[in-house]
Amino acid sequence: MIPEEKVREVAERISIVEVVSDYVSLRRAGGNFLGLCPFHAEKTPSFNVNPAREIFHCFGCGEGGNAFSFIMKMEGLSFPEAVKLLARKSGIEIEERQLTPSEIKTQDEYTQFKRINDLTTSYYRSVLLNGQEGEPARQYLANRSVEADISDVYQLGFAPDRRDGLVKHLKNNGIDLDAALKLGIIRKSDSGWYDLFRNRLIFPIKDARGQVIAFAGRVLDTTLPKYINSPESPLYHKSSVLFGLDIALPTIRTGNSVIIVEGYFDHLALYRAGVKNVVATCGTALTGTHAGLIKRHAARVYTLFDSDNAGKKATIRSMELFLEQRIPAYVISLPAGDDPDSFLTAHTAEEFIALRDKARPAFEYFVRTLLAETPPDSVDSKVRIIDDIVPRFRKIADSIERDLYEKEICRLLGITNHAFRKRMGGGKLPHQESLVNESTATQPADNIQDTLLALLLNYPEAREEIVRNGLETIFSNDYLELARLVLNSLADSENSQTLCHLAEILEKPEQKALFSRIMVSEAYLADIDWRSVLNQCTRSNEKKQLASIKDIAARLSILDPSSDEYSLLLKQADALRTRKSKL
Ligand code: CTP
Ligand code: MN
Repeated sequence: MIPEEKVREVAERISIVEVVSDYVSLRRAGGNFLGLCPFHAEKTPSFNVNPAREIFHCFGCGEGGNAFSFIMKMEGLSFPEAVKLLARKSGIEIEERQLTPSEIKTQDEYTQFKRINDLTTSYYRSVLLNGQEGEPARQYLANRSVEADISDVYQLGFAPDRRDGLVKHLKNNGIDLDAALKLGIIRKSDSGWYDLFRNRLIFPIKDARGQVIAFAGRVLDTTLPKYINSPESPLYHKSSVLFGLDIALPTIRTGNSVIIVEGYFDHLALYRAGVKNVVATCGTALTGTHAGLIKRHAARVYTLFDSDNAGKKATIRSMELFLEQRIPAYVISLPAGDDPDSFLTAHTAEEFIALRDKARPAFEYFVRTLLAETPPDSVDSKVRIIDDIVPRFRKIADSIERDLYEKEICRLLGITNHAFRKRMGGGKLPHQESLVNESTATQPADNIQDTLLALLLNYPEAREEIVRNGLETIFSNDYLELARLVLNSLADSENSQTLCHLAEILEKPEQKALFSRIMVSEAYLADIDWRSVLNQCTRSNEKKQLASIKDIAARLSILDPSSDEYSLLLKQADALRTRKSKL
């Protein structure tokens, strides 16, 4: 743990322009510095750094934050690691707080685990590379055209056909076997200790920083099970690990996209073909945690699963996760019978790239797959199709996208928009959800709320006025939450440090982007007559809210009056009408 004062000391010592300049060439543009964004590919600069506020924001990809966030994203570091790196650069010494005995114990255990995994990796690796015992595995890899350089990148290994080869190796190196037991790579029975992996090709599984945290072992023939994996352990949680992320990160960062596959060998085949922005799940379906992890690193994802039925199911399931996390997702479809490995054995990398460039949006893939399975040739089948589509359709965050899909679905099914909406409204989904989706979506930039938030940040008098009127009357959704956070942190002390500190604690990416965008925007820094701006804003805000009465009325007309959503909307409409009559 780094003491808070130290973090602040580092923050005060560094200048964001200098920090960013180590990675991006910046030129002055008004009060900001401008350069090419390192987080997405662009030809004209939209990456802004504001020295006065110690904030950066990219208007291209929405990435933003302070110097610490920049280093975290750039170097793939955690917050404390980023603070340490910047402390070193600015010559500040960081003494970490004294650890508690239980923290020391955990830390010692982790050091021990790391040593065990390193010893295990090098043991399997040396069995593979040297000596007679590794011959079958060398043969196997040769048959699959895995050359030495690739074997080295993945640090492949081989577990010999012995009961306790690893056990002995660990013991000889003074390892406490009970610690290795916790990692599941060795086991204990009445007749003594024995290895988990026997006669298997070994893939070390690493975390994002390249530390080995688990292993997977593949048989060399057709014996089942094909793979066994380390069990869950203090280091390894398979639902949150993406195999190959460490290798892929630099490429993911420059292209801002990632390809997800299901197999270790698929990952390897793509890497060998020069496609390096790839990760694989470890013998488990993709989870929400995986999707969240992906969102941290890439703006767009491609799924590349086998072309069989299981692969199709996995594709559609993953689409739902990406819709929920609002990550644009595309599906790369392979010819029937192929997986990525077999495709690349028979085709060139260029042919694969051509397939990738033809990837279709996941939702479109889903609708097409559904229609191929259930042709919409009767009323009955149409109803079934719509009922399959509706719950997923509701997860599409972007309203323009939703409009387009609605048109497309209606066209394909030969039904009217009205019929589709009716089915949507008639569903038994939680009423709140659809409401929230309607109003928040990905929240397009709202000029009025932007300006109001800027006033809140810059003008103490305007802030008082806004607080007096009630935040809820002018802000909504992410803006409202953000406004509350701003007020809370300004309540403690008021200086620019406080505000740029806020960039570290914001958790929602939407709010982060919103915050850095407003903080970095020159226009809001200029001297303005805050009172007249505030008045203008509140007036147009109110007008806008009133316009929504019309939308509500339209929606009410297609809803079942006994539904919960109906009564909820009715209440909203009433509240808005009351406000209107007071104006
Ligand atoms: N898997 C597993 N346990 C099994 C079978 C599969 O954990 N018994 C996981 C592995 O992560 C594997 C992935 O599912 O990589 C995909 O399975 P499969 O396509 O059978 O394996 P590949 O890695 O593609 O291996 P190969 O090309 O040798 O068939
Ligand atoms: Mn496979």
